[in-house]
Amino acid sequence: MAALFGFGVLECGVERLKKEGGTTPSPSLGGAGERARLFPVTQKGIFLAHAAVAPISGPAREAMDAWTANAVAGRQEGEEVWRGVRKTREVAGRFLGCDWDEVSLLGPTALGLGLVALGLDWKPGDEVIYDPLDYPANVYPWMDLVRRGVRPVPLERKAGEEIRWATISPKITAKTKLVSLATAHYLSGLTPELSVIGPELRARKILLCLDGIQTLGVLPTEWAEADFLAADAHKWMLGPVGAGVFMVRRRVWDQMAPPLLGSWNVVSPDFLAQPKMVLEEGGRRYEPGSLNLPGIEGMRASLELLEGLGRSEVMAHVLDLAGRIREGGRARGFVIYGKGEGARAITSFQEPKGGWGDLAKKMEAAEIRVSWRREHEGTMLLRVSPHISNTVEEVDEFLKVLGRAD
Ligand SMILES: Cc1ncc(COP(=O)(O)O)c(C=O)c1O
Repeated sequence: MAALFGFGVLECGVERLKKEGGTTPSPSLGGAGERARLFPVTQKGIFLAHAAVAPISGPAREAMDAWTANAVAGRQEGEEVWRGVRKTREVAGRFLGCDWDEVSLLGPTALGLGLVALGLDWKPGDEVIYDPLDYPANVYPWMDLVRRGVRPVPLERKAGEEIRWATISPKITAKTKLVSLATAHYLSGLTPELSVIGPELRARKILLCLDGIQTLGVLPTEWAEADFLAADAHKWMLGPVGAGVFMVRRRVWDQMAPPLLGSWNVVSPDFLAQPKMVLEEGGRRYEPGSLNLPGIEGMRASLELLEGLGRSEVMAHVLDLAGRIREGGRARGFVIYGKGEGARAITSFQEPKGGWGDLAKKMEAAEIRVSWRREHEGTMLLRVSPHISNTVEEVDEFLKVLGRAD
């Protein structure tokens, strides 16, 4: 299964799409009624901002409503809910290519990344490599390690430039303990060369930590060499904010102590604190207390929906739409932010010389939701991120409102 989602196959998919004229029909969502049920957001305007805070799916809402109905009746927890928690670990494990018991159910992304920073057994002088142009959640936890005598080593690259093994290798020393990267950059959508970076790090016994939020649910995110991965559900997973997944491979459990402890991850019979602490097994190791059960229900329902629609179908459809957005934008004189070869679900357009004028207002008037994001050199990017729920017609409508850059 993992190979099916490998980047080799992905590139073939892109080639095939090119030959077919750049469009693929969306995978069978059923009729219009079914599309509306699965993706209620499609009933009001055009939503093209899944790299920001995405709408939850219809099934996520149904699952959360069902949980709420039980909760008001005094049953926030129960056998059915615990079965749901187990199923969530399982479906997340299939998306991540890991065992279900290597998945902790914790959001936000920053919490998972922070637990890695706080839980590893750092020695003074150890080094951690990070990308200072990454989203803050994957920057500050590593910078803060100076307080523990660790040397944070920033990568050197220009804004919008791809991360390749050649970007990382000059920074590696005998002291490098961990490299932390995003599976896709939140502004450019570019994916680092993980098929090379992963094995190179593994060969050197350097740990790899990933922020997976910008690919999980849309692009392949099962990297065998990743020791840790964190992702909140509120983007491509179409889940609610504050629910997420945190993968810690079994092979590194003994290297990472849980920095947060409580009744859920330390064996506490009858809720009594014990004189000796024994950790629970599996994903519970890193979950200190009560779980975000409604959020987990919503996240599971959306992951199962995406899996049911077909992960490769979802990816092919999104890449098709993203390709159409880039081609259409270029044809209208816009410049794409970031150059790279890999698959990209996110497209950002650079600010034209004369600025964006009243385009934000025009998008609002046309009920088209996009993201406006400042990049590190100060200009404003227009970021567009379609998902399986979007259609070719919606992309064409966006391009019409985008107009020409001049
Ligand atoms: C790359 C990346 N990481 C993390 C996040 C969100 O972090 P958190 O879940 O900690 O709020 C975002 C949101 O924009 C992001 O783009």
